[in-house]
Amino acid sequence: MTQKIRKAVFPVAGLGTRFLPATKANPKEMLPIVDKPLVQYAAEEAVAAGITELIFVTGRNKRAIPDHFDKAYELESELEASGKTQKLEEIRSILPPEVNCIYVRQAEALGLGHAVLKARSVVGNEPFAVILADDLIVADGPGCLAQMTARFDEVGHSILGVEQVESSRIGAYGVVELARPDDEGPCYELTGLVEKPKPADAPSDLGVVGRYVLTPRIFDVLESTAYGAGNELQLTDAIANLLRYERVSAYRFKGTRYDCGSKLGYLQANVELALKHPDVSTDFREWLQELAL
Ligand code: G1P
Repeated sequence: MTQKIRKAVFPVAGLGTRFLPATKANPKEMLPIVDKPLVQYAAEEAVAAGITELIFVTGRNKRAIPDHFDKAYELESELEASGKTQKLEEIRSILPPEVNCIYVRQAEALGLGHAVLKARSVVGNEPFAVILADDLIVADGPGCLAQMTARFDEVGHSILGVEQVESSRIGAYGVVELARPDDEGPCYELTGLVEKPKPADAPSDLGVVGRYVLTPRIFDVLESTAYGAGNELQLTDAIANLLRYERVSAYRFKGTRYDCGSKLGYLQANVELALKHPDVSTDFREWLQELAL
């Protein structure tokens, strides 16, 4: 029996420089896609996968994130007084009552691996998930993390969410090296992992997206992993080192991923989700059609 995944780590201390000036005083994870902040999509995906402990690794200027998941007394009584019951319900049910939020500070921006290591004492000795909120993943059926935890229940070792990436963009990803390059997937056994290779050196066309299910051994391995690219402790390097001790798989999830850490991906996510949003879809579609003429 594998241990059930109950905890998810959300590294949210990044500066969001690509979205300045919008992120000067606001966390990038609070940027909305239509009417919901990115971090809420990520939290909902975790909750849908059965996660009950949300561990946010935060930093300076990130107060809006804990505020978002807290009770908002004034807002709630205003909505109640003005009879806006539907909005009130929406605000009250952002997270189910059994879910806990825990906040850990990452005082220095020393990389994704460093952020994950900061969560060690809260995660303890159990497998856990890592979600990067700026990768928004929309799935028709079960969410990406639920697909991965179901897989973890079968295999019991670390699993990385991957997608096929064009060669011109592969250098922006952690890229997996496959034990059997001809495997058709969606599960692949790994022999290696490289952070942001030059396209010519990429070991495959499968790039890691911001979804990981990791065994707790990653913490020991992170402790002994050297600082890498950009003088940061890279989670990718630690996972490559983890392969010395344990199997690691990649999983090609079903769904569409939007890279909301880039302006283009962020705009695409807004357009696609607006086209599905009950409040605006019809008018927005008409307007888009006019615009395209
Ligand atoms: C991080 C990881 C990278 C991964 C990517 C997915 O990079 O280091 O391995 O492929 O997230 O979004 P970043 O986008 O923070 O540069």
